[in-house]
Amino acid sequence: MEPTYSALKALLVQNLARLYYAENQLVRALKMMAEKATRPELREAFLSHRAETKTQVERLATTFVELQEPVQAHYCQAIDGLLQNGNWLMHTLERGSVLDSALIGAAQQVELFEVASYRNVCGLAMQLELARVAQVCEGILYEELEADDKLSAIAEGLGMGSGVSLAVQEEEEQEERKAEN
Ligand SMILES: [Fe+2]
Repeated sequence: MEPTYSALKALLVQNLARLYYAENQLVRALKMMAEKATRPELREAFLSHRAETKTQVERLATTFVELQEPVQAHYCQAIDGLLQNGNWLMHTLERGSVLDSALIGAAQQVELFEVASYRNVCGLAMQLELARVAQVCEGILYEELEADDKLSAIAEGLGMGSGVSLAVQEEEEQEERKAEN
């Protein structure tokens, strides 16, 4: 049986409300993460993503208006779990390079959670032909992908590697050589 328009719309509203909750939590968490980061570029990355996150909160609010629903936040256990993990790291590790590496990992877990969540709401909005809502969600999705890329670049700068295994790198280099010949 095909899902009804109203059931899918209710799911979309639910998921947007969880994201609205998550982004509000992140505005607070990113402040603390910036305070705990030692590397200036990492602190800057957290602060600039925090500023961006504040605008995401505002843009998410417009999607509820678009859907003729009250702006609402629904408790999201997943983001709370991820942020608890970050809190634990900040309370357990002293400020320094190890905590920086740990914070990058914790922040990237959050980014990829957001990427998956925005892909979902964007897909639902498209299915429901809600172009304006889809557009807002897609815009935020690209910001989360960029934030993740930026953290990967910082991790590489810290000598952590790009997160791509040596075997994959080797394969890619072979492909490039093949393409050149
Ligand atoms: Fe976000």
